Amino acid sequence: MIRFGIVGGGLMGHGIAVALARAGFGVAVHDADPVTLAGLGERVARALRRCGTPAQELSEVAERITAAATLAELARGSDIVVEAVPERLETKHQVLAALEERVSDMTPIWTNTSVLSLTEVARGMRHPRRLVGVHWWNPPYVIPLVEVAPGKETDHRFVEEACEVLDGLGKTTVRLHRDVPGFIGNRLQFALVREALHLLEQGVCDAVTIDTVMRSSLALRWPAVGPMENADFIGLELTRSILSSLGPHLSARTGDFPVLDELVRAGHRGRVGGAGLLPWPEGRGEEVARRLEAGIRHQLAAPPHHPAGVRRATEG
Ligand SMILES: NC(=O)c1ccc[n+]([C@@H]2O[C@H](COP(=O)([O-])OP(=O)(O)OC[C@H]3O[C@@H](n4cnc5c(N)ncnc54)[C@H](O)[C@@H]3O)[C@@H](O)[C@H]2O)c1
Repeated sequence: MIRFGIVGGGLMGHGIAVALARAGFGVAVHDADPVTLAGLGERVARALRRCGTPAQELSEVAERITAAATLAELARGSDIVVEAVPERLETKHQVLAALEERVSDMTPIWTNTSVLSLTEVARGMRHPRRLVGVHWWNPPYVIPLVEVAPGKETDHRFVEEACEVLDGLGKTTVRLHRDVPGFIGNRLQFALVREALHLLEQGVCDAVTIDTVMRSSLALRWPAVGPMENADFIGLELTRSILSSLGPHLSARTGDFPVLDELVRAGHRGRVGGAGLLPWPEGRGEEVARRLEAGIRHQLAAPPHHPAGVRRATEG
């Protein structure tokens, strides 16, 4: 059975470890921060309890996840390495260089970058052919989607292997034909966030109203019918005519967002700052985390999640 090594045991690293261990894989996790590494077992146990893992299985699954004190220790026992360190190109480059000194030339490396170019992440690697973009969504042990993409120099055999492993885990694996920053999901998500901030800045409505509109309309439609199927459903002439009259009014901004700049300057950084686009009194963060996970589980339990007969977007 494949043994995984995960570099970076933060939010995503520990979550990916849980997803892999629940499927029976052994996982070693290394983190540069000893406090994070020491707390790994507790965070894994909490995640497993949230998944509803029965008590008798909990320790068996948790024991598949071990803390590796050094990168060398992690590298020694890993057939596939997952990079889940912070989203900074220089940090990723340092970790990849250190890893390549310690793993075999053929060991696949999966990067969990959200929005960096895979070709840029691979720059400077001795063997860029082994780097695959494998983008999990948080929490990785709940959200079905994993997006897989090659960098410019990735050997497609590594991409195919990643897809096979993820399919075997029961994930909804989508494969991109080429490297684009943000894969598919984050590009769609941030196109929407950009337009929402644009509406705020134009004084059209407040932040609560934007969330109300989303949660009471589009969020109800999209689990059942995606935007492409919906475009066909309403008809492509109508879709074309809406886009041609609305298009010029939508935000195409590439620069800064004054609304975000002002809030951040005032220390209103969102959940962790006690305020952001919305107020974040004590306890709200926990409540939102619970509501988020419960909401996702509720959606997943409601058939049909993936209607039969609809092909994956990337199956050609
Ligand atoms: N947070 C999300 O929802 C999400 C979703 C998908 C992908 N991602 C991506 O996953 C990656 C990790 O994000 P995260 O949210 O888990 O961040 P995080 O800050 O929670 O975890 C990163 C961990 O890496 C450790 N680290 C830093 N430098 C290191 C080094 N040189 N060697 C070993 N460990 C090191 C840190 O101590 C930290 O524990 C990023 O690329 C991010 O963009 C995040």
